[in-house]
Amino acid sequence: MKVLVIGSGGREHSIVAKLALSTEITALYAAPGNGGIADLATCVPIDVTAVDDLVHFAKEEQIDWTFVGPEIPLLAGVVNAFQQENLNVFGPTKEAALIEGSKDYAKSFMRVHAIPTAASETFSDAEKAKDYIAKKGAPIVVKADGLAAGKGVVVANTVEEANEAVESMLVDNQFGQAGSLVIIEDFLDGKEFSLMAFVNGKDVYPLVPARDHKRVYDNDQGPNTGGMGAYAPIPDLQQSVIDEAIERILKPAAAGLVKEDRSFTGVLYAGLIETTDGPKVIEFNARFGDPETQVILPLLENDLLQVMRDVTAGNNPQLTWKDAYATGTVIAASGYPGSYDKQLPIPDLSELPQDVYCIHAGTEKTAEGYVSNGGRILFIGSVHHNRTDAVESVKTGLTIFKSNPNFHYRTDIGFGK
Ligand code: AMP
Ligand code: GLY
Repeated sequence: MKVLVIGSGGREHSIVAKLALSTEITALYAAPGNGGIADLATCVPIDVTAVDDLVHFAKEEQIDWTFVGPEIPLLAGVVNAFQQENLNVFGPTKEAALIEGSKDYAKSFMRVHAIPTAASETFSDAEKAKDYIAKKGAPIVVKADGLAAGKGVVVANTVEEANEAVESMLVDNQFGQAGSLVIIEDFLDGKEFSLMAFVNGKDVYPLVPARDHKRVYDNDQGPNTGGMGAYAPIPDLQQSVIDEAIERILKPAAAGLVKEDRSFTGVLYAGLIETTDGPKVIEFNARFGDPETQVILPLLENDLLQVMRDVTAGNNPQLTWKDAYATGTVIAASGYPGSYDKQLPIPDLSELPQDVYCIHAGTEKTAEGYVSNGGRILFIGSVHHNRTDAVESVKTGLTIFKSNPNFHYRTDIGFGK
């Protein structure tokens, strides 16, 4: 089997690393891939949105299966294009991926299908949005409708802050077309968790829950990022809450998409918050979470290629999980999530302890070694039966980046917060 993975981040490195364990795979390709992926797969320089070029490559190389990592190619219709050519592909069509592509659509979808989420209203007019904010008061949440690389959400502690967010989205067009509608949403208080499932139509096969850490600094301080680390499973999350999320959120979402003629195949991601009123949806994504995937896939015992084939064929993939705990921390470039330098030399990774794994998020391979080419550079993870051992191994791994002015990272991930 020849398999292609579309994408270039840590999530895709994890997917490639998992697929590389499949005995049926004879050749792995990534478009465009990264420095770490290049050690396991042939990287081809095709942009994730170059849909025609991706189709052309898959046909020329006679690729048997393609896995789509990020949301941008999904919303650009890469799955539709592959399906039109009868190429096997794992991921939702652009119609199904709209659950991630438009927060306005996702909110009205949840209202129609009675899926628990914060009350909200959508506006295209800044003055009307501000009137609504004045009526509601703070804290309140302002969200751009479209894709904004995780930066389109402002949790405003004051009415002024919320009004500023509205101005920047609707008047100053900070996010272009993606911010031409804003959603003003009630603030929900509680612990967050990510629950994903392999989905095909109404069939839902949940994964272990994971917790992402979006804020840049320890103790969840500072601005939001693409994610600074993650762990799975979540010791403080009760099984009854997970079950409720599956029954009241994931299953109705899958069934609702079928009803709306947007039947979903792929990984459906629910970003959830555990409120006193039960779990509620913060967002849906149409793909694996990043960096959650970097801790979930090492716990999955199944062959990922077989899972894709089973799920697509309508068979239960019979997921089984290691009785273990995975945690990992992102190494980011100094300055991230603000401006940062690229081409930073990466320390010698062979010095990492034996029991940690290293996923590349933003690197490229040069004759002199790996260098950075993004804000989030590496993910240092560990799997152990015992949580303390996993946390301690990562901590030891992080020492090779300690006091290096090129990098920064959180030191509190995996402790159950
Ligand atoms: P999102 O990009 O939709 O995942 O939102 C980014 C972050 O904003 C989330 O991880 C939450 O921490 C926060 N957030 C989003 N919506 C709400 C809400 N309604 N109440 C409280 N926090 C929220
Ligand atoms: N970890 C959040 C996301 O993948 O969107």
